[in-house]
Amino acid sequence: MTKRIVLAYSGGLDTSVLVHWMQSEWSAEVIALAVDVGQVPGADQAYWDEILARATTAGALEARVVDAREEYANRFVANAIKANALYEGKYPLVSALSRPVIARHLVAAAREFSADAVAHGCTGKGNDQVRFEVALRTLAPDLEVLAPVRTWGFSRRDSIEYAALHAIPITVTEDKPYSVDENIVGRAIECGAMEDPWVAPPESIFERTGAVSSAPDQPREIVIGFERGIPVSLDGMPTPLHLLLPELDGIVGAYGFGRIDMVENRRVGIKSREVYECPGALALILAHADLESITLERDLAREKSHLEPRYAETIYDGLWYSPLREALDAFIDSTQRHVTGEVRLKLEAGQCVVVGRRAERGLYDFSLATYEDADAFRHEDAAGFVRLWGLSVETWAKKQRTEEPVVPRGRNDG
Ligand code: ARG
Repeated sequence: MTKRIVLAYSGGLDTSVLVHWMQSEWSAEVIALAVDVGQVPGADQAYWDEILARATTAGALEARVVDAREEYANRFVANAIKANALYEGKYPLVSALSRPVIARHLVAAAREFSADAVAHGCTGKGNDQVRFEVALRTLAPDLEVLAPVRTWGFSRRDSIEYAALHAIPITVTEDKPYSVDENIVGRAIECGAMEDPWVAPPESIFERTGAVSSAPDQPREIVIGFERGIPVSLDGMPTPLHLLLPELDGIVGAYGFGRIDMVENRRVGIKSREVYECPGALALILAHADLESITLERDLAREKSHLEPRYAETIYDGLWYSPLREALDAFIDSTQRHVTGEVRLKLEAGQCVVVGRRAERGLYDFSLATYEDADAFRHEDAAGFVRLWGLSVETWAKKQRTEEPVVPRGRNDG
Protein backbone atom coordinates (compact mmCIF):
# COMPACT_ATOMS: atom_id res chain seq x y z
CA MET A 1 0.00 0.00 0.00
CA THR A 2 1.23 3.49 -0.76
CA LYS A 3 2.37 5.30 2.31
CA ARG A 4 1.05 8.80 2.87
CA ILE A 5 3.42 11.16 4.64
CA VAL A 6 2.94 14.68 5.97
CA LEU A 7 6.27 16.51 5.77
CA ALA A 8 7.24 19.52 7.88
CA TYR A 9 8.19 21.67 4.90
CA SER A 10 10.34 24.79 5.11
CA GLY A 11 11.00 25.41 1.43
CA GLY A 12 14.72 24.99 2.00
CA LEU A 13 17.10 22.64 0.21
CA ASP A 14 16.72 19.53 2.37
CA THR A 15 12.95 19.47 2.75
CA SER A 16 12.47 20.23 -0.97
CA VAL A 17 14.73 17.34 -1.90
CA LEU A 18 12.87 15.21 0.66
CA VAL A 19 9.54 15.76 -1.13
CA HIS A 20 10.99 14.16 -4.23
CA TRP A 21 13.20 11.60 -2.52
CA MET A 22 10.48 10.05 -0.32
CA GLN A 23 8.34 9.51 -3.40
CA SER A 24 10.99 7.95 -5.56
CA GLU A 25 12.60 5.97 -2.76
CA TRP A 26 9.47 4.79 -0.94
CA SER A 27 6.79 5.52 -3.59
CA ALA A 28 5.10 7.61 -0.93
CA GLU A 29 2.48 10.31 -1.32
CA VAL A 30 3.84 13.48 0.22
CA ILE A 31 1.83 16.32 1.74
CA ALA A 32 4.13 19.31 2.24
CA LEU A 33 3.02 21.39 5.19
CA ALA A 34 4.59 24.78 5.84
CA VAL A 35 3.74 26.31 9.19
CA ASP A 36 4.00 30.09 9.30
CA VAL A 37 5.43 31.06 12.68
CA GLY A 38 6.73 34.39 11.41
CA GLN A 39 9.88 33.07 9.70
CA VAL A 40 10.00 36.05 7.37
CA PRO A 41 8.75 39.33 8.79
CA GLY A 42 6.19 40.77 6.42
CA ALA A 43 5.96 37.64 4.26
CA ASP A 44 2.90 37.88 2.04
CA GLN A 45 0.88 35.32 0.13
CA ALA A 46 3.25 35.62 -2.85
CA TYR A 47 6.14 34.55 -0.63
CA TRP A 48 4.34 31.42 0.51
CA ASP A 49 2.98 30.71 -2.97
CA GLU A 50 6.53 30.50 -4.24
CA ILE A 51 7.52 28.09 -1.48
CA LEU A 52 4.47 25.92 -2.05
CA ALA A 53 5.05 25.89 -5.81
CA ARG A 54 8.52 24.49 -5.12
CA ALA A 55 6.98 21.57 -3.21
CA THR A 56 4.49 20.94 -5.96
CA THR A 57 7.24 20.99 -8.58
CA ALA A 58 9.13 18.47 -6.48
CA GLY A 59 6.05 16.28 -6.69
CA ALA A 60 4.01 16.91 -3.57
CA LEU A 61 0.47 15.56 -3.72
CA GLU A 62 -0.59 18.68 -1.86
CA ALA A 63 1.31 21.69 -0.52
CA ARG A 64 -0.14 24.13 1.95
CA VAL A 65 0.74 26.75 4.50
CA VAL A 66 -1.01 27.36 7.82
CA ASP A 67 -0.76 30.70 9.50
CA ALA A 68 0.08 29.76 13.10
CA ARG A 69 1.53 33.11 14.14
CA GLU A 70 -1.25 34.12 16.50
CA GLU A 71 -1.55 30.71 18.09
CA TYR A 72 2.21 30.52 18.44
CA ALA A 73 2.41 33.95 20.07
CA ASN A 74 -0.49 33.48 22.45
CA ARG A 75 -0.13 29.85 23.47
CA PHE A 76 3.63 29.36 23.41
CA VAL A 77 5.63 32.59 23.28
CA ALA A 78 3.46 34.40 25.87
CA ASN A 79 4.11 31.58 28.37
CA ALA A 80 7.84 31.85 27.84
CA ILE A 81 7.78 35.61 28.40
CA LYS A 82 5.79 35.16 31.61
CA ALA A 83 8.50 32.72 32.69
CA ASN A 84 11.35 35.07 31.62
CA ALA A 85 12.59 31.91 29.94
CA LEU A 86 16.24 32.08 28.90
CA TYR A 87 18.09 28.80 28.34
CA GLU A 88 21.45 28.83 30.08
CA GLY A 89 20.63 32.37 31.11
CA LYS A 90 20.79 33.75 27.57
CA TYR A 91 18.77 32.11 24.83
CA PRO A 92 15.05 32.95 24.51
CA LEU A 93 14.24 29.57 22.92
CA VAL A 94 13.62 30.68 19.33
CA SER A 95 13.57 27.20 17.75
CA ALA A 96 12.63 25.29 20.87
CA LEU A 97 9.32 27.13 21.24
CA SER A 98 8.24 26.73 17.63
CA ARG A 99 8.61 22.96 17.30
CA PRO A 100 5.66 22.02 19.53
CA VAL A 101 3.27 24.27 17.58
CA ILE A 102 4.55 22.92 14.25
CA ALA A 103 4.07 19.39 15.61
CA ARG A 104 0.43 20.16 16.44
CA HIS A 105 -0.23 21.21 12.86
CA LEU A 106 1.59 18.19 11.45
CA VAL A 107 -0.72 15.95 13.44
CA ALA A 108 -3.82 17.91 12.38
CA ALA A 109 -2.82 17.56 8.72
CA ALA A 110 -2.00 13.88 9.15
CA ARG A 111 -5.52 13.31 10.46
CA GLU A 112 -7.13 15.35 7.71
CA PHE A 113 -5.27 13.49 4.97
CA SER A 114 -5.44 10.12 6.74
CA ALA A 115 -1.66 9.92 6.62
CA ASP A 116 0.32 7.04 8.08
CA ALA A 117 3.40 9.00 8.93
CA VAL A 118 4.90 12.39 9.63
CA ALA A 119 8.40 13.38 8.47
CA HIS A 120 10.82 16.13 9.36
CA GLY A 121 14.10 17.28 7.86
CA CYS A 122 16.22 17.48 11.03
CA THR A 123 19.67 15.98 11.29
CA GLY A 124 20.71 13.53 13.96
CA LYS A 125 22.92 16.00 15.80
CA GLY A 126 20.49 18.64 16.87
CA ASN A 127 17.77 19.44 19.34
CA ASP A 128 14.99 19.92 16.84
CA GLN A 129 14.67 16.19 16.06
CA VAL A 130 14.19 15.63 19.80
CA ARG A 131 11.53 18.33 20.04
CA PHE A 132 9.59 17.15 16.98
CA GLU A 133 9.67 13.50 17.85
CA VAL A 134 8.90 13.76 21.55
CA ALA A 135 6.03 16.15 20.75
CA LEU A 136 4.69 13.89 17.99
CA ARG A 137 4.85 10.80 20.20
CA THR A 138 2.80 12.49 22.91
CA LEU A 139 0.27 13.98 20.48
CA ALA A 140 -0.17 11.01 18.14
CA PRO A 141 1.58 7.83 19.24
CA ASP A 142 -0.02 5.92 16.37
CA LEU A 143 1.73 7.97 13.68
CA GLU A 144 5.06 6.79 12.39
CA VAL A 145 7.74 9.47 12.59
CA LEU A 146 10.30 9.55 9.80
CA ALA A 147 13.60 11.41 9.83
CA PRO A 148 15.20 10.55 6.46
CA VAL A 149 17.94 13.16 6.75
CA ARG A 150 19.39 11.19 9.66
CA THR A 151 20.05 8.19 7.47
CA TRP A 152 20.06 9.11 3.79
CA GLY A 153 23.75 9.96 3.81
CA PHE A 154 23.45 13.06 1.60
CA SER A 155 26.02 15.80 1.98
CA ARG A 156 25.00 19.35 1.20
CA ARG A 157 26.64 18.94 -2.17
CA ASP A 158 24.66 15.73 -2.82
CA SER A 159 21.40 17.53 -2.03
CA ILE A 160 22.27 20.37 -4.40
CA GLU A 161 23.06 17.86 -7.15
CA TYR A 162 19.88 15.91 -6.47
CA ALA A 163 17.84 19.12 -6.74
CA ALA A 164 19.53 20.05 -10.01
CA LEU A 165 19.07 16.56 -11.45
CA HIS A 166 15.34 16.54 -10.70
CA ALA A 167 14.72 20.19 -11.56
CA ILE A 168 13.73 21.18 -8.06
CA PRO A 169 13.91 25.00 -8.14
CA ILE A 170 16.13 25.77 -5.21
CA THR A 171 18.09 28.94 -4.59
CA VAL A 172 21.21 27.92 -2.74
CA THR A 173 23.96 30.39 -2.17
CA GLU A 174 27.25 28.57 -1.74
CA ASP A 175 28.89 31.53 -0.06
CA LYS A 176 26.39 31.49 2.82
CA PRO A 177 26.83 28.07 4.37
CA TYR A 178 24.71 28.87 7.42
CA SER A 179 21.86 26.99 8.99
CA VAL A 180 19.23 29.53 9.91
CA ASP A 181 15.99 28.99 11.79
CA GLU A 182 13.68 31.85 12.54
CA ASN A 183 10.27 32.93 13.72
CA ILE A 184 8.65 35.83 15.58
CA VAL A 185 10.90 35.22 18.60
CA GLY A 186 14.10 35.75 16.65
CA ARG A 187 16.73 34.19 14.41
CA ALA A 188 19.14 31.34 15.14
CA ILE A 189 22.27 31.17 12.98
CA GLU A 190 24.73 28.28 13.03
CA CYS A 191 27.57 26.79 11.00
CA GLY A 192 30.09 28.25 8.56
CA ALA A 193 33.02 30.09 10.07
CA MET A 194 31.21 30.28 13.40
CA GLU A 195 31.87 26.60 14.05
CA ASP A 196 35.14 27.92 15.48
CA PRO A 197 33.98 29.53 18.73
CA TRP A 198 36.95 31.93 18.60
CA VAL A 199 35.83 33.44 15.31
CA ALA A 200 33.59 36.49 15.60
CA PRO A 201 30.22 36.21 13.82
CA PRO A 202 30.39 37.89 10.40
CA GLU A 203 28.34 41.09 10.25
CA SER A 204 26.57 39.80 7.13
CA ILE A 205 24.61 37.12 9.02
CA PHE A 206 22.45 39.61 10.88
CA GLU A 207 19.06 40.71 9.60
CA ARG A 208 17.10 41.84 12.62
CA THR A 209 19.84 43.84 14.33
CA GLY A 210 22.10 46.56 13.03
CA ALA A 211 25.71 47.09 14.05
CA VAL A 212 26.10 49.20 17.18
CA SER A 213 28.23 51.60 15.15
CA SER A 214 25.32 52.36 12.83
CA ALA A 215 22.72 52.90 15.58
CA PRO A 216 20.68 56.13 15.43
CA ASP A 217 22.36 59.07 17.17
CA GLN A 218 19.19 60.01 18.98
CA PRO A 219 18.26 57.81 21.95
CA ARG A 220 14.63 56.75 22.01
CA GLU A 221 12.21 55.78 24.73
CA ILE A 222 9.40 53.28 24.33
CA VAL A 223 6.71 52.10 26.74
CA ILE A 224 5.59 48.48 26.88
CA GLY A 225 2.25 47.73 28.52
CA PHE A 226 1.55 44.36 30.17
CA GLU A 227 -1.62 42.66 31.30
CA ARG A 228 -1.25 39.68 33.62
CA GLY A 229 2.29 39.23 32.44
CA ILE A 230 1.51 39.39 28.73
CA PRO A 231 2.82 42.27 26.60
CA VAL A 232 -0.22 44.01 25.14
CA SER A 233 0.78 47.49 23.99
CA LEU A 234 3.51 49.68 22.61
CA ASP A 235 3.49 53.37 23.54
CA GLY A 236 -0.10 53.00 24.65
CA MET A 237 -1.21 51.42 21.38
CA PRO A 238 -2.83 48.00 21.92
CA THR A 239 -0.82 45.51 19.84
CA PRO A 240 -1.24 41.73 19.75
CA LEU A 241 1.93 39.84 20.58
CA HIS A 242 2.40 38.30 17.12
CA LEU A 243 2.57 41.84 15.67
CA LEU A 244 4.33 43.45 18.62
CA LEU A 245 7.40 41.22 18.32
CA PRO A 246 8.23 42.07 14.68
CA GLU A 247 7.52 45.74 15.36
CA LEU A 248 9.87 45.75 18.34
CA ASP A 249 12.50 43.86 16.34
CA GLY A 250 12.57 46.80 13.95
CA ILE A 251 12.71 49.49 16.63
CA VAL A 252 15.07 47.82 19.10
CA GLY A 253 17.20 46.01 16.51
CA ALA A 254 18.10 49.31 14.85
CA TYR A 255 19.97 50.23 18.04
CA GLY A 256 22.13 47.12 17.77
CA PHE A 257 20.59 45.50 20.83
CA GLY A 258 19.56 41.84 20.85
CA ARG A 259 22.50 39.79 19.60
CA ILE A 260 23.55 36.69 21.51
CA ASP A 261 26.75 34.75 20.94
CA MET A 262 27.08 31.65 23.07
CA VAL A 263 28.32 28.10 23.30
CA GLU A 264 25.36 26.08 24.48
CA ASN A 265 24.77 22.53 25.67
CA ARG A 266 22.56 20.62 23.27
CA ARG A 267 20.30 17.88 24.60
CA VAL A 268 22.28 15.32 22.62
CA GLY A 269 25.48 16.14 24.52
CA ILE A 270 27.22 18.38 22.00
CA LYS A 271 28.48 21.83 22.87
CA SER A 272 27.61 24.09 20.01
CA ARG A 273 28.37 27.66 19.09
CA GLU A 274 25.16 29.55 18.45
CA VAL A 275 24.45 33.06 17.37
CA TYR A 276 21.01 34.58 17.81
CA GLU A 277 19.35 37.89 17.23
CA CYS A 278 16.22 38.48 19.24
CA PRO A 279 15.88 42.21 19.87
CA GLY A 280 12.12 42.28 20.48
CA ALA A 281 11.97 39.14 22.61
CA LEU A 282 14.90 40.21 24.80
CA ALA A 283 13.39 43.68 25.27
CA LEU A 284 10.08 42.12 26.32
CA ILE A 285 11.68 39.74 28.81
CA LEU A 286 13.76 42.59 30.23
CA ALA A 287 10.66 44.74 30.66
CA HIS A 288 8.56 41.88 32.00
CA ALA A 289 11.09 40.84 34.63
CA ASP A 290 11.33 44.45 35.72
CA LEU A 291 7.58 44.83 36.08
CA GLU A 292 7.62 41.75 38.29
CA SER A 293 10.07 43.51 40.58
CA ILE A 294 7.29 45.84 41.70
CA THR A 295 4.34 43.47 41.42
CA LEU A 296 5.51 40.14 42.89
CA GLU A 297 5.67 39.62 46.64
CA ARG A 298 9.23 38.83 47.72
CA ASP A 299 8.99 35.12 48.49
CA LEU A 300 6.86 34.48 45.44
CA ALA A 301 9.45 36.25 43.30
CA ARG A 302 12.27 34.20 44.81
CA GLU A 303 10.53 30.91 44.23
CA LYS A 304 9.63 31.88 40.68
CA SER A 305 13.23 32.82 39.94
CA HIS A 306 14.29 29.29 40.92
CA LEU A 307 11.75 27.74 38.56
CA GLU A 308 12.47 29.93 35.54
CA PRO A 309 15.67 28.13 34.45
CA ARG A 310 13.85 24.81 34.87
CA TYR A 311 11.07 26.07 32.64
CA ALA A 312 13.55 27.10 29.96
CA GLU A 313 15.31 23.71 30.15
CA THR A 314 12.03 21.83 29.89
CA ILE A 315 11.17 23.62 26.66
CA TYR A 316 14.71 23.44 25.30
CA ASP A 317 14.81 19.70 25.96
CA GLY A 318 11.67 19.08 23.92
CA LEU A 319 9.28 18.51 26.81
CA TRP A 320 6.64 21.10 25.97
CA TYR A 321 3.96 18.42 26.10
CA SER A 322 4.75 17.19 29.58
CA PRO A 323 3.17 17.31 33.03
CA LEU A 324 6.17 19.31 34.28
CA ARG A 325 5.63 22.09 31.75
CA GLU A 326 1.92 22.15 32.51
CA ALA A 327 2.51 22.34 36.25
CA LEU A 328 5.16 25.03 35.89
CA ASP A 329 2.78 27.02 33.69
CA ALA A 330 0.05 26.71 36.33
CA PHE A 331 2.40 28.11 38.96
CA ILE A 332 3.70 30.85 36.69
CA ASP A 333 0.18 31.86 35.65
CA SER A 334 -0.83 32.21 39.24
CA THR A 335 2.13 34.54 39.84
CA GLN A 336 1.07 36.80 36.96
CA ARG A 337 -2.31 37.93 38.32
CA HIS A 338 -1.09 41.42 39.15
CA VAL A 339 1.74 41.76 36.63
CA THR A 340 -0.18 44.52 34.90
CA GLY A 341 1.43 47.87 34.22
CA GLU A 342 3.94 49.68 32.08
CA VAL A 343 7.69 49.71 31.64
CA ARG A 344 9.78 52.47 30.07
CA LEU A 345 12.71 51.30 28.00
CA LYS A 346 15.46 53.58 26.81
CA LEU A 347 17.27 52.68 23.61
CA GLU A 348 20.79 53.85 22.90
CA ALA A 349 23.58 52.46 20.74
CA GLY A 350 23.87 48.79 21.72
CA GLN A 351 21.67 49.21 24.75
CA CYS A 352 18.14 48.74 25.94
CA VAL A 353 17.63 49.61 29.59
CA VAL A 354 14.67 50.00 31.88
CA VAL A 355 14.31 53.59 33.06
CA GLY A 356 10.90 53.40 34.73
CA ARG A 357 8.04 51.12 35.69
CA ARG A 358 4.57 51.53 37.14
CA ALA A 359 1.73 49.22 38.09
CA GLU A 360 -1.70 49.98 39.46
CA ARG A 361 -1.50 47.16 41.98
CA GLY A 362 2.22 47.46 42.47
CA LEU A 363 3.73 46.67 45.86
CA TYR A 364 6.14 49.58 45.84
CA ASP A 365 4.97 51.76 48.73
CA PHE A 366 6.39 55.27 48.63
CA SER A 367 5.59 55.97 52.29
CA LEU A 368 7.60 52.89 53.29
CA ALA A 369 10.50 53.52 50.93
CA THR A 370 11.07 57.24 51.25
CA TYR A 371 13.75 58.86 53.38
CA GLU A 372 11.87 62.16 53.21
CA ASP A 373 9.16 63.61 55.47
CA ALA A 374 6.42 61.32 54.19
CA ASP A 375 8.22 58.33 55.76
CA ALA A 376 5.66 56.08 57.50
CA PHE A 377 8.00 53.18 58.28
CA ARG A 378 8.03 52.31 62.02
CA HIS A 379 11.73 52.75 62.73
CA GLU A 380 11.33 51.68 66.35
CA ASP A 381 10.30 48.17 65.20
CA ALA A 382 13.63 47.60 63.50
CA ALA A 383 15.89 47.08 66.54
CA GLY A 384 13.84 44.17 67.96
CA PHE A 385 13.38 42.64 64.55
CA VAL A 386 17.07 42.67 63.81
CA ARG A 387 17.96 41.22 67.25
CA LEU A 388 15.59 38.28 66.81
CA TRP A 389 16.63 37.79 63.19
CA GLY A 390 20.21 37.27 64.32
CA LEU A 391 19.43 35.42 67.58
CA SER A 392 20.07 31.97 66.16
CA VAL A 393 23.56 32.72 64.83
CA GLU A 394 24.36 34.80 67.89
CA THR A 395 23.67 31.75 70.05
CA TRP A 396 25.74 29.55 67.74
CA ALA A 397 28.65 31.98 67.88
CA LYS A 398 28.65 31.98 71.68
CA LYS A 399 28.53 28.21 72.08
CA GLN A 400 29.94 26.50 69.03
CA ARG A 401 32.04 28.72 66.82
CA THR A 402 35.57 27.38 66.64
CA GLU A 403 37.10 29.60 63.98
CA GLU A 404 38.85 32.64 65.46
CA PRO A 405 36.71 35.72 65.00
CA VAL A 406 38.31 38.22 62.67
CA VAL A 407 39.58 41.08 64.85
CA PRO A 408 40.24 44.26 62.93
CA ARG A 409 43.85 45.34 63.12
CA GLY A 410 44.63 48.77 64.46
CA ARG A 411 46.56 51.31 62.45
CA ASN A 412 49.87 50.73 64.26
CA ASP A 413 49.68 46.97 64.74
CA GLY A 414 52.55 46.48 62.32
N1 ARG B 1 20.49 25.74 19.05
C1 ARG B 1 19.19 26.28 18.94
C2 ARG B 1 18.19 25.36 19.58
O1 ARG B 1 18.49 24.22 19.74
C3 ARG B 1 18.85 26.65 17.53
C4 ARG B 1 18.56 25.53 16.61
C5 ARG B 1 18.42 26.05 15.23
N2 ARG B 1 17.88 25.08 14.36
C6 ARG B 1 18.23 24.98 13.08
N3 ARG B 1 17.64 24.06 12.39
N4 ARG B 1 19.13 25.77 12.54
O2 ARG B 1 17.12 25.75 19.93
